[in-house]
Amino acid sequence: MGTLSSSSLFGAILWLVVSPFMGQLVEEGNAYQVEHRSVTESTCDLYEGTWVRDDSYPYYTSCPFLEKQFACQSNGRPDQEYMKYRWQPLNCNLTRFDGRDFLTRFTGKKIMFVGDSLSLNQWQSLTCMLYSTEPSTKYTLVRTGGISTFTFKDYNLEVRMARNAFIVDIVMTDAGRALLLDSVNGSRQLWEENDVLIFDSWHWWLHIGRKQPWDFIRLGGKTIKDMNRLAAYEIALKTWAKWADSIDPAKTKVFFQGVSPDHDNSTEWGQPGAPTHCSGQTEPLLGSGYPGGPHPAEVVLEKIIGSMSKPANLLKVTKLSQLRKDGHPSVYGFGGHRGMDCTHWCLAGVPDTWNELLYAALIQ
Ligand SMILES: *[C@@H]1O[C@H](CO)[C@@H](O)[C@H](O)[C@H]1NC(C)=O
Ligand SMILES: *[C@@H]1O[C@H](CO)[C@@H](O)[C@H](O)[C@H]1NC(C)=O
Ligand SMILES: *[C@@H]1O[C@H](CO)[C@@H](O)[C@H](O)[C@H]1NC(C)=O
Repeated sequence: MGTLSSSSLFGAILWLVVSPFMGQLVEEGNAYQVEHRSVTESTCDLYEGTWVRDDSYPYYTSCPFLEKQFACQSNGRPDQEYMKYRWQPLNCNLTRFDGRDFLTRFTGKKIMFVGDSLSLNQWQSLTCMLYSTEPSTKYTLVRTGGISTFTFKDYNLEVRMARNAFIVDIVMTDAGRALLLDSVNGSRQLWEENDVLIFDSWHWWLHIGRKQPWDFIRLGGKTIKDMNRLAAYEIALKTWAKWADSIDPAKTKVFFQGVSPDHDNSTEWGQPGAPTHCSGQTEPLLGSGYPGGPHPAEVVLEKIIGSMSKPANLLKVTKLSQLRKDGHPSVYGFGGHRGMDCTHWCLAGVPDTWNELLYAALIQ
């Protein structure tokens, strides 16, 4: 009996691991239908809109624990207009962020961002937005390993950030570092402790050479040296989605931060004559469309989330951020030898809007 039940348990686990790669066509067909419906029928799409100037922004002008890479003003950025834009959806209004309400609602809770430095960017933005509501509040900021924990002590609220660029596991083996496209076993326990989770992953999937933190890929018992990175990203997202579908939404709310766009090619935003990168940009694009079109990784991400049985809440920040060629640190981030940054975002700035969207979804 004992042997039988443990072998059927093994079968079930094996099925869970393998199943993301079955029935792909059917799932994709459904995902496109769902996408199509939500675009044509929805009366209020918070993600279609324009940037409008609003003097009541930004939410904060200083934040004592802001990391240097996002602290554009103290790094000498001369212009300030980029902080004075509000995202205006076409058919409705986005609720203004209310930090006091947020702190009260989430008293005693755990919120965790999981992802790369764009996740760090949004985590810092949220902690600054909350802190600036109540600058006299007691807080601690502790870093252990890859986890940063910001605690609002008066509210017993933890807002954490777990560095995890690929979401799926990377493990050491005798042959080197293996990227396991079919496992989130290494992190799921940490994630499941939280009331709210906000994931992000994309930028590291493109790294090669010295910046690539794995030596080979493992998938379904097979080892391969490398593969198309967008395809690998899709498989990893499916693994994550299977895990997220197993989470009780009444206990843990699961979000995914849409792909954050870079501005390294001015042709994409319709200024082919300008310096190719974001340097010197002081204004957003004022329309609602981006000449460069949708981001390929975002297309994959939307497809996978659309195919989930309990779809995670996708913060579709890609297009609204594509319009913000003015929002990056450029030389006012780390600067120096690390050079031009048209990937991350100045704070205060664009990630504050991502958190307005997060807040709007949380209080719905
Ligand atoms: C949005 O806000 C504006 C200005 O306060 C108001 O005039 C408008 O009716 C609001 N629109 C919606 C859909 O609530
Ligand atoms: C994940 O964990 C389960 C249960 O501990 C194990 O059976 C399975 O083989 C693991 N998957 C991978 C890909 O390591
Ligand atoms: C910039 O974008 C344009 C249009 O997408 C493309 O044709 C061109 O190759 C890109 N340039 C670089 C340097 O990537």
